[in-house]
Amino acid sequence: MLIKLDAIEVDVIAERPSAEDVVLTKPTEADLDSLVTLINAYAKRGDLLPRTADSVKESLPDWVIAKVGDTVIACGSLLRYSPVLAEVRSLAVADTAQGLGLGRQIVAQLEIDAQKQKIPTLFALTRVVQFFEKMGFTITEKEYFPQKVWNDCNHCPIQDNCDETAVVKKFSYQEENKEK
Ligand SMILES: CC(C)(COP(=O)(O)OP(=O)(O)OC[C@H]1O[C@@H](n2cnc3c(N)ncnc32)[C@H](O)[C@@H]1OP(=O)(O)O)[C@@H](O)C(=O)NCCC(=O)NCCS
Repeated sequence: MLIKLDAIEVDVIAERPSAEDVVLTKPTEADLDSLVTLINAYAKRGDLLPRTADSVKESLPDWVIAKVGDTVIACGSLLRYSPVLAEVRSLAVADTAQGLGLGRQIVAQLEIDAQKQKIPTLFALTRVVQFFEKMGFTITEKEYFPQKVWNDCNHCPIQDNCDETAVVKKFSYQEENKEK
């Protein structure tokens, strides 16, 4: 359930970081506590679904994080539903670090990860539609993603009043080793 509570601030770092202090990377087990703290702060605010350290640990290669020192200040992950479909999920940038381009960099890296796996379609369910449009996503119907609707939406108490919009981005691949 994602009910939005704007009053809760997500301040995992006190001051706005400089771009040169931020490192974009894949998380390791050493980052788990800081990463889960960030996600669950946003979950309390109603922006993201909560995650446990164990569930994140199982999917570490699917994540991209931004760090300042040992503190995770931004994150995002890919959830692969099939060889042809993945969801951009758990995307968050700490309040003090928003507007620095980190959200864009995380989505761009997730797209690279998806392209390496030759996944042609990425989607997200989101309230920040304009952000995703700037990343090249377009609005679509969430019913196009039945696995998502079955896994998450059908268990949500506000499914009939959902305020999230489905957005999608498609890639095309040229076959490798194609005879010329
Ligand atoms: C949405 C979010 C990830 C954006 O991260 P960010 O690092 O602040 O975004 P960026 O600085 O990379 O912005 C990239 C572009 O998107 C635009 N943008 C960012 N947030 C936006 C918003 N809420 N609405 C409209 N446009 C937005 C920026 O203006 C920028 O545009 P530009 O390139 O024309 O200047 C961040 O605000 C956030 O974590 N929000 C709360 C959690 C959340 O809602 N996550 C999404 C779950 S699907």
